Amino acid sequence: MNHDKVKDLANKFGSPFFLLSEKQIEKNIEIFRQCFSVYKGKFTLGYSTKTNPSLGILKIMKKNNVISECASYLDLASSFEAGYSGEDVVYAGLHKPIESLDYSVKNNVKIINIESLFEAKNIYEVLKKRNTKIRVGIRIAFPAQSGIKSILGVTYDRFGASLESGEAYKIADFLVEKKDFFDLHGVHCHPGSNIKSSKKYKVAIDELFRLSEYIKEKHSIKIKLFNIGGGVGISEVHFYSLFDLMFNTFSRIFKKRLQYDIKSFNQKKMLNEIVEHLNKKFQSNDDFPEVMMEPGRALIGNAIDLKAKIVNIKKTNSGSWLIIDAGTNLLPILTLFTEYRSIKSLNQSEKILKYSIAGPLLYSSDVIATNVKLSEQEIGDFINIGDVGAYFNSQSSHFLFARCATVLEENNGNFKAIERKEEFEDIITRSN
Ligand SMILES: Cc1ncc(COP(=O)(O)O)c(C=O)c1O
Repeated sequence: MNHDKVKDLANKFGSPFFLLSEKQIEKNIEIFRQCFSVYKGKFTLGYSTKTNPSLGILKIMKKNNVISECASYLDLASSFEAGYSGEDVVYAGLHKPIESLDYSVKNNVKIINIESLFEAKNIYEVLKKRNTKIRVGIRIAFPAQSGIKSILGVTYDRFGASLESGEAYKIADFLVEKKDFFDLHGVHCHPGSNIKSSKKYKVAIDELFRLSEYIKEKHSIKIKLFNIGGGVGISEVHFYSLFDLMFNTFSRIFKKRLQYDIKSFNQKKMLNEIVEHLNKKFQSNDDFPEVMMEPGRALIGNAIDLKAKIVNIKKTNSGSWLIIDAGTNLLPILTLFTEYRSIKSLNQSEKILKYSIAGPLLYSSDVIATNVKLSEQEIGDFINIGDVGAYFNSQSSHFLFARCATVLEENNGNFKAIERKEEFEDIITRSN
């Protein structure tokens, strides 16, 4: 998109703004559909709604027959508001308050994926009160690494119930014991984030299969839905390794920003390998169960860019700083420090200079990137921060500035706000 068009849109919808491409979402959906078309059973594609729960995005997902995987009351309510009915909604999540569980039961969701024995007992109370039965799945824990974040103590093992400790089996036994209220229908697992090899999915499938065999042998119940989660990586986002981080630190001393080969990951090949493993795994069964995936990043990550305006330029001892009107209020700090994504200029200047880029906040960590090579910038120019569709808007805050609009570029080339710019009055109303 050229610079003048970006300026036009900023005049209309406010700056900065997220720009969402409907075409890109549909391309991303199509990759999953194509790869899973050779799976011998039914394939269901879900969208991990927490990744970006904007109603406009949910409506596009619904139009393309992508079901909604919800992790909160907000996700559930947004999905119903976008037109989903319970049969196309899955409820999973670490903490499901009683009111949210009741809400999901009342709306008769497709399945609730259970995290723990404690939660199973809570759901039982909800079902007893309503005197109704619901389909449930068991989410198993997956000891995934969280890359560089693991040195900060970030782990995945608290999600789901452990097979090793035996909790997952105990949940199965409990659900069967209370079979008047629970229809034990599925098993579920989420193997990590921005995954770029099929290895973890193969392990996850094998683990789910292990639990399903236990349920078959002990309780004569055949599991009908294998949900293998999200986590599918995208070429455009690179998670830094410890090695990258060390290298980046040295590069900063020499005032350089390392570039990454962001096009080298073959997402289709990875999905094909997962499907091949599924076909092999279930070939000895008398039929192939429904398989579900619920990606977030892979459907939306590269479909949204952030257009930000340069509001000041400052030369300091540490370099030439572009101050832009989007900062860590819209782009979470931890994500900026642990992931590489592209930053591009939009003007036509041929002169290339090195800039560091900071947001507008009166807060020292409000740094977007250092030592980025861009064409020469002037105050009022716009830059593009690419591939911010996943976990940016949904984690944005109104620290010092109100949140910005999300503008959708529709398939027919029209532009419309699917989320208007937040007004200061919106924020003040809440505390009045
Ligand atoms: C259960 C579950 N499913 C799906 C996702 C989506 O992950 P991603 O955006 O990496 O595809 C998550 C994210 O944490 C999750 O916890």
